[in-house]
Amino acid sequence: SAAEKGGYDYFMLKEIAEQPKAVADTLLGRIDGSGSLRLDEVRIPAGALREIDKVVIVACGTAFHAGMIAKYAIEHWTRLPCEVELASEFRYRDPILDAQTLVIAISQSGETMDTLMALRHAREQGSRVLAICNTNGSTIPRESDAVLYTHAGPEVAVASTKAFLTQLVACYLVALYLGQVRGTKWGDEIRAVIRDLSSIAGAVDRVLGTMEPVRELARTLASKKTVLFLGRHVGYPVALEGALKLKELAYMHAEGFAAGELKHGPIALIEEDLPVVVVVPSPRGRSVLHDKIVSNIQEIRARGARTIVIAEEGDEEVVPYADHLIRIPATPTLLQPLVATVPLQVFACELATARGNEVDQPRNLAKSVTVE
Ligand code: AGP
Repeated sequence: SAAEKGGYDYFMLKEIAEQPKAVADTLLGRIDGSGSLRLDEVRIPAGALREIDKVVIVACGTAFHAGMIAKYAIEHWTRLPCEVELASEFRYRDPILDAQTLVIAISQSGETMDTLMALRHAREQGSRVLAICNTNGSTIPRESDAVLYTHAGPEVAVASTKAFLTQLVACYLVALYLGQVRGTKWGDEIRAVIRDLSSIAGAVDRVLGTMEPVRELARTLASKKTVLFLGRHVGYPVALEGALKLKELAYMHAEGFAAGELKHGPIALIEEDLPVVVVVPSPRGRSVLHDKIVSNIQEIRARGARTIVIAEEGDEEVVPYADHLIRIPATPTLLQPLVATVPLQVFACELATARGNEVDQPRNLAKSVTVE
């Protein structure tokens, strides 16, 4: 009913709007007075976490994209090798797992059969499994050694939005916690990231306030056949997520690519007026990434692409090459997906509406996929 949707036309719009609160709620109570992490709920003894020599993340769909982003954070902050794999592929390749492997299973519903079968397989090999889940008491956390709940609140729309942002927050917390317990990250550094994370809810809120031009742009693209998405580093999984949202909601052909891979094939797809969304990393810090993507944007634009550029406030270098410019607040590189994903959600939702599709219940899809 309209009341359940809180005055919004669709649950998806309500859930997009709830993201600042969902992000803040997922941090709540997990940071102590000194700014360190308190994750006692992760019931894996510190001694066992110190013995871990590898992290393996399994998940499906949007949760898999959160896992791809988590890999960057875990490897950077803990120096532990981290693999990410689609849960549906995982157990069929005889993966190398033992008691020193920490397996992280990410699932909004906690009922996804592919993810459940992957975690069962990992536990049979003696690995410890930590679930990141949004649904209290669901099967995946019940069968795991430990769980860190995302506090997004119930997600009704089939297309995942607020659950994704909170999965990212939970992954960052786990990465920092591993660093804290294992001593690979020092208190001051952890506290600095926590401070950055704590300001992200406000940044998401600011992005939400600037989405009208994104909606207008989406409406002008309603008759397009294809949209491509490009990113590098953590912007690459964001590009994949933008493409997935568009497929499931707008029923359009959409594909995400690592921008550096363009010249190895996908650039052949570029033709006059093809919309290409580019997620641009911060020009600060690792500016080499930024330089590379600016040249990628030039390359596709020279071949006729209509560039839709998502870039930090204050990034002037991209301006000459952007047919459409979507601004996001400045954040540290690893945290950028928390703000960069939001315009892509709004874009897909508006395109679906413009094409007359059912936003909350896309055709052929179920909210939780309980068959393998
Ligand atoms: C996301 O928009 C999709 N509906 C889908 O990819 C989903 O993320 C996937 O099925 C995993 O679901 P889960 O998080 O409940 O395990």
